Amino acid sequence: MATIEGIRIKNFRSLKDVTLGRLWNQQQTDPLTPMTAVIGKNGVGKSTLLDAFGFLADALKSGVEEACDSRGRGGFERIRAQGQKGPIEFEVYYKEDGNARPITYEISINVDHSGRPYVLKERLRQRRKGQKHGWPFSFLLLNSGKGIVWKGDQEGRQIDEEHDVFDLFGLIQSIESGEAEEESTETEVVELDDQRKLGIATLGSLKQHPRISAFRKFIEGWYLSYFTPDAARSLPLAGPQKHLNSHGDNLGNVVQFMEREHPKQFQAILKRIAEKIPGINKIDTEKTNDGRLLLRFNDKGFQDTFYSQQMSDGTLKVFAYLLLLEDPTPPPFLCIEEPENGLYHKLLESLAKEFREHATGRKGGSQVFITTHQPYLVDALEPAEVWILEKGPDGYSLIHRASDDPTVKNMVAEGLPLGGLWYSDYLDAR
Ligand SMILES: Nc1ncnc2c1ncn2[C@@H]1O[C@H](COP(=O)(O)OP(=O)(O)OP(=O)(O)O)[C@@H](O)[C@H]1O
Ligand SMILES: [Mg+2]
Repeated sequence: MATIEGIRIKNFRSLKDVTLGRLWNQQQTDPLTPMTAVIGKNGVGKSTLLDAFGFLADALKSGVEEACDSRGRGGFERIRAQGQKGPIEFEVYYKEDGNARPITYEISINVDHSGRPYVLKERLRQRRKGQKHGWPFSFLLLNSGKGIVWKGDQEGRQIDEEHDVFDLFGLIQSIESGEAEEESTETEVVELDDQRKLGIATLGSLKQHPRISAFRKFIEGWYLSYFTPDAARSLPLAGPQKHLNSHGDNLGNVVQFMEREHPKQFQAILKRIAEKIPGINKIDTEKTNDGRLLLRFNDKGFQDTFYSQQMSDGTLKVFAYLLLLEDPTPPPFLCIEEPENGLYHKLLESLAKEFREHATGRKGGSQVFITTHQPYLVDALEPAEVWILEKGPDGYSLIHRASDDPTVKNMVAEGLPLGGLWYSDYLDAR
């Protein structure tokens, strides 16, 4: 399972410069855990942090200009940290599976003189097999849409940024003129025809670039939940669909898919889920005459079944989350904003445990990233899993990890629940 070990975000709204987890040049920091929760007061930047992932996914899908405008982001100048003139930057440190060498992806986005956003720089790099120290080898270098890419899964160029004044355009010229003898045949000069599109979107569709393809697929697989119970009540018209979409309005289609493709497994899943939802005896499905599939919930107190249209918001939400976690081919990265909304507080601890089980499971679940306001949910978490966002005196966000504070770590080791410590202000930066 591919995982994000760390991320650095610069100039994205209130996130002027925040880092979570490990980066290629910060190896002494622990990587992100399989499950991560971000907490903090109103307006500290939790939604912004989740939207940074959403922005990256949107930029890959439809280019940076559209990503700046979509989902009510309001354009580049609204997104760039106020008072900053530099580009918006992201650095993602990720690895494909347990033993893979991590890869660093960097992208910076700026606006041209007419105010249109474009990709200023993009870069991918990775250390060589057995290389523990020193500069990683770049295998994609793009400046304003033009640059160099190294094919295969080994090649690249080591750039000593402290001593080298690296001249990308000089290297491009020498490769184009055939003078760059030291470069292998795997080196290729590329130019994108649209500077608003990501290089990894174009090059990641080519077989010659397995590392870029893998990274592109990884981001394409991210699931960012904007789940609303009302949407999940809609009756599916189209046919079966494999995965729940971000709004949850294809819940019925996913149910159809599961029933058709994995009938036995699905019955077992429904049984498991019914045991976890308070007040529910049994969940099953009913086919209508026109071929649609209705979800039926058997409420403990009543003889007749209820359909999903009649079920409570919280019940539907828990059902959707649990179904998401039971997905036979789960997304590699799952982001959920405030999953607690509308759920009974005693349910939260078990929901947090479900998320963690999914994230750490041997079945190969998803890396889970959530924001929350709920101490009950945080009670079920470890200090290394919890990040606290705060607003600095200049208005920009600051972040630290609960496990960075030895007092907090000790108190949790002694059996005090983390949510309780948060409630008593022990998690604030000191
Ligand atoms: N371009 C920008 N530059 C700097 N700060 C910004 C920019 N755009 C928005 N902000 C600030 O970012 C902050 C973060 O808002 P965000 O919605 O992420 O908070 P939150 O932690 O999700 O809060 P809540 O708990 O209320 O949902 C807000 O205080 C807002 O003033
Ligand atoms: Mg928010």
